Amino acid sequence: MDKKILVANWKMNPQTAREARVLFDAMINVGRLKNIETVICPPYPFLPIFGSPKSIKLGGQDIFWEPQGAFTGEISGKMLKNLGCEYVILGHSERRQFLGETDETVNLKLKMALKENLTPIFCIGEREGEEMSDIVENQLKQGLADIGKNQIEKIVIAYEPVWAISTGVQAKPCLPDDALSAAVFIRKILTGLFGKYLGGKIRIIYGGSVDSGNAAGYLKQTQMVGVLVGGASLDPQEFSKIANSLNNLA
Ligand code: PGA
Repeated sequence: MDKKILVANWKMNPQTAREARVLFDAMINVGRLKNIETVICPPYPFLPIFGSPKSIKLGGQDIFWEPQGAFTGEISGKMLKNLGCEYVILGHSERRQFLGETDETVNLKLKMALKENLTPIFCIGEREGEEMSDIVENQLKQGLADIGKNQIEKIVIAYEPVWAISTGVQAKPCLPDDALSAAVFIRKILTGLFGKYLGGKIRIIYGGSVDSGNAAGYLKQTQMVGVLVGGASLDPQEFSKIANSLNNLA
């Protein structure tokens, strides 16, 4: 059985290296669970303080699309690799909303991540009032443009309806039925783009107000293979409960 994927997106938290170390240490047991792959994505400055943890994978929260050079404030894929990262979150809705991320820039970043042998966690999802199918189809087609069939399997797609993200003004829970409809739709687009075999193998995970009460349900009811956790990943007890609930799934 393939491992379930559990991603912790710490966003711009916590504020000090000391707090980050305490948080990380409190989560270390989660990495020992056999049936899940745990990926922690802290802010960049904290990456070096964790050393090379064996049981937990590290991820970045973004990269730039150029390999190096005069790009003030940016960080390259190679830098993440060099700090022990195996994953990188790309196209997160907060970057799309606040930092001008577009489908085109996400596409360039995906290609750079693959070049650097990082596993991209490619976030897609509609905002409140938008039609899921229109938005998601566009994000997938543009974001995955020119990605070769030999590389597509490495990408993890994270469906995150923006209206369900806990930090949103009025986050609403995404019902498993809605997540299922999205998963089925995403799969349809992926098989259309990459064929039945490859399109059927690409991993899809869910994100948006995931907690210990709903995490396992998303996987059981939607055929998704993991979750991306924001707010609840800053609470080690809650995060452990989420991890256990996924680990105990058949
Ligand atoms: P949330 O965030 O779990 O706090 O809703 C998820 C995300 O934005 O990645």
